[in-house]
Amino acid sequence: MKKSNINIGIIGFGTVGAGTARILLKRNKELQSKLGTSLKLKYIADLNTRTDRGIKLRSGVLIKDAKKILNDPEIDIVVELIGGISPAKDFILEAISKGKHVVTANKALLAEKGQELFMAAKHNGVALGFEASVAGSIPIIKVVRESLIGNKIGNIFGIINGTANYILTRMTEEGVDFGSTLEEAQKLGYAEADPTFDIEGIDSAHKLAILASLAYGLPISLKKVYTQGITEITPLDIQFASEFGFKIKLLAIAKPAGQEVELRVHPTMVHESMPIAGVNGVFNAIYVEGDATGAGLYYGKGAGDMPTGSAVVSDIADIARYIRAGAVDRMQNYEISGRSGLKVKKMDDVSTCYYLRMSAIDKPGVLSKISGILGKNNISIESMIQKGRKKEKAVSMVLMTHEAKEKDMMKALKEIKKLKVVSGKPLYLRVEGGNA
Ligand code: HSE
Repeated sequence: MKKSNINIGIIGFGTVGAGTARILLKRNKELQSKLGTSLKLKYIADLNTRTDRGIKLRSGVLIKDAKKILNDPEIDIVVELIGGISPAKDFILEAISKGKHVVTANKALLAEKGQELFMAAKHNGVALGFEASVAGSIPIIKVVRESLIGNKIGNIFGIINGTANYILTRMTEEGVDFGSTLEEAQKLGYAEADPTFDIEGIDSAHKLAILASLAYGLPISLKKVYTQGITEITPLDIQFASEFGFKIKLLAIAKPAGQEVELRVHPTMVHESMPIAGVNGVFNAIYVEGDATGAGLYYGKGAGDMPTGSAVVSDIADIARYIRAGAVDRMQNYEISGRSGLKVKKMDDVSTCYYLRMSAIDKPGVLSKISGILGKNNISIESMIQKGRKKEKAVSMVLMTHEAKEKDMMKALKEIKKLKVVSGKPLYLRVEGGNA
């Protein structure tokens, strides 16, 4: 069935909903000429119809009830942009069951319930587009699914949370504290509805779970992604990192080796020579190794209304092309599978280099106690800095280690914490691209 008009209903008129609507309206003519069909924004549903989003809509387009979109037989594509699990999941399943194509930016939902949603889409012969779910404007879903299809994908390192990167960048460049920067990111529309998702690494874990599933043929394995946020990072750590030649970034890391793949999100000391260390502000970047392509770095804005809206529109356009060509049955839907047979590696078995910061009494014999514990646990020290000289008082002590096993490091840290000469909890950061 060739259609000259494709009707779209957006559910959710927040930051991304507004960006998507703005692009669809502003680029309507160009999109029509590129796609050979017109994209008609028939409805936008949001419980809040009062706030002025600065977008002129025809009368009757903005509605309160999402059901009006789901029940309208003329709607071809439902765009879910409310986020969260409920009622987003029910809306999507209902749209799919009614034969409507769906586009979503909802990484939390895909990371938790992707299996069910993709199966439902396949069963009903409709598309489920999710380009906007990872890294905003960077077309990384297309890259991994389509452009790199001829590659065996190796390591992936991603800065995939704009808010966390914005905060770390401001802390690095201007020495500002953590709290006030988070407020700025929220005002700029980068942060999640619950900003703990950004700063505790949860949003990055959602995105890594989706990417890893695409890249390695794993089922979506959110629960197996090791996740640690950036809330314990202080300006002092940023300064120490720089003295060792590193930047601190919240990295999402996937490393396949043999029959296992490491999946982890944590603040990471990244050597300044790695291009990803220079990715600042709300920008995202994803480094992907392909056996044919070699290393590639994909870079762009990872959050915000227009960059993310642009990714949503790209999915809408893809679906429109298929509808226009009467080839909906040939659409390539994503099928989650465990085809690779890879397993997620236990964090205990992961090996990295570490940065350790602790507050220790400045007196003879303290360092030997600490290094003794590390040595006993198979951990070798690469370098060390003590800040200041305060006889018999606490000073900051920083160590970089050679590669060590996570399990050994956790055991050593427990023992170090018990030392009377060490106060507070030692901070540890894992290191990439450095000193092994
Ligand atoms: N809160 C997310 C971020 C938005 O800061 O990157 C885009 O997913």
